[in-house]
Amino acid sequence: MRADDRPPLNITEEGRSRLDSWGLKPEQLPRHVAIIMDGNGRWAQNRGFPRVVGHRRGIQSVRAMVEEGVRIGLEQLTLYCLSVENWKRPARELRFLMRLLRHFLVAERAELMDQNVRLQVIGRRDGLPPEVLAEMDRTVAETAGNTGMILRLAVNYGGRTEILDAARRIAEEARDGRLNPATLDEATFASYLETAGAADPDLLIRTAGEMRISNFLLWQVSYTELWVTPTLWPDFRGGDLLQACVDYAARTRKFGGLPTSSLAAGTSAG
Ligand code: IPE
Ligand code: IPE
Ligand code: MG
Repeated sequence: MRADDRPPLNITEEGRSRLDSWGLKPEQLPRHVAIIMDGNGRWAQNRGFPRVVGHRRGIQSVRAMVEEGVRIGLEQLTLYCLSVENWKRPARELRFLMRLLRHFLVAERAELMDQNVRLQVIGRRDGLPPEVLAEMDRTVAETAGNTGMILRLAVNYGGRTEILDAARRIAEEARDGRLNPATLDEATFASYLETAGAADPDLLIRTAGEMRISNFLLWQVSYTELWVTPTLWPDFRGGDLLQACVDYAARTRKFGGLPTSSLAAGTSAG
């Protein structure tokens, strides 16, 4: 089930007993979970609140995911916070999201250090307020030496933008004679993406029921298992993540080939 043979991260005592109670073995877990955190607006509107109340509430779910991820030994957790398309939203909502992000980066710094979490950010810096960039850079720098889970925030991120930026850099290097187009392969191309060096997501979760990718990690999710829940993001908790992991553990990943058991059967038959 694992995409490679790297040793898993440490699972806490509490994480181990949680996995037991969910009938999960550590080796059945996804190593990299990506989440499209959707439904904040609906959560608030269902309660007669302005949409931004849902965004604020969604921070609790982020915190819960980081805690659960660390507990069960996830290697990477990638969260879609803001897409390049989200700039179409009203300026007031965007200002609120920026304030919230800045607040999160400051308020969670000690907690991330405590949990040995390394923060990374992907997405375009252009268009983000300088005060957000400053706190982002500071948290990334302070947590850079941590060795536990990678928490990767996708902020002002777009899958097509990322691929386009990579293609542009590759074209420039080819033009300058620093890269031979004939030898360009998938691994080299991936090394020009913002996720360079990171394993692709094993599991992509989307909350709030929408069956679409919305321009998230287009290159990276080619063989990722998808899991969609009607639960709105502000209601999503550790137990929901574990339910997704239980369903993931029951999947057979084939990457275009045949399951290992069929391969063995094929060999013995013939
Ligand atoms: C997801 O919740 C958060 C962001 C996209 C920033 P939404 O704000 O998209 O919530 P809905 O989809 O309108 O309910
Ligand atoms: C995707 O949610 C973006 C984030 C979660 C940051 P959206 O709410 O923007 O996606 P669509 O518009 O429903 O596809
Ligand atoms: Mg939405």
